Amino acid sequence: MNRRTALTAALALTAGLALAGCDTGEPGPQIQVDGAYMPQPVTQDMAGAFFTIKNSGPADKLVAVTTDQAKDVTIHKTVGNKMEQVKELPIPENGEVRLERGGTHLMFMGLKYKPTKDDVIGIELQFAHAEPVKVSVQVRAVNYQPKK
Ligand code: CU
Repeated sequence: MNRRTALTAALALTAGLALAGCDTGEPGPQIQVDGAYMPQPVTQDMAGAFFTIKNSGPADKLVAVTTDQAKDVTIHKTVGNKMEQVKELPIPENGEVRLERGGTHLMFMGLKYKPTKDDVIGIELQFAHAEPVKVSVQVRAVNYQPKK
C-alpha cells in the first residue's frame, strides 16, 4: 500500500467511526457540567460565565455554545490582560476543564436584558463527540466566588 492509499484508508476509517457515532455501543465522552454561574454584569452588552466541565470518557472538545438570551456567546481565554476568542476548548480524557475568573470563560455579547442576581440563563454546549448538554447558568453577585 503506498502512502496515498494508506492515507485514504485512514480517512475512510475515521469517517466510518464518526458516522457510527453512538451506535457502536462503545462509551463516548461522558460530559457533566457543574457550578455554572455568571457574575451579575454591569450592562447587558457583555457578561462572562464560568463552570467546570467533567468528562469520564474519551477526550472531546467544546466547539460551540448557543443561547436565545444573547446575540452571541463565544469561548474566550485570557492572555495577560487581554481576552482572545478560541474556536474550541479541548476536554481531556477522564479529566476536567475549569472556566474561571482570570482564565477561560464564556463571553456573552448583546444580552436581551440585563441579568440580575438569581436570574437563570439557559445555554447549550455543543461538543465534537458528546451529545449537546443544556446548562442553567445561575446569575450571582458581582463578587461571587465559587467554593473550590
Ligand atoms: Cu471574554
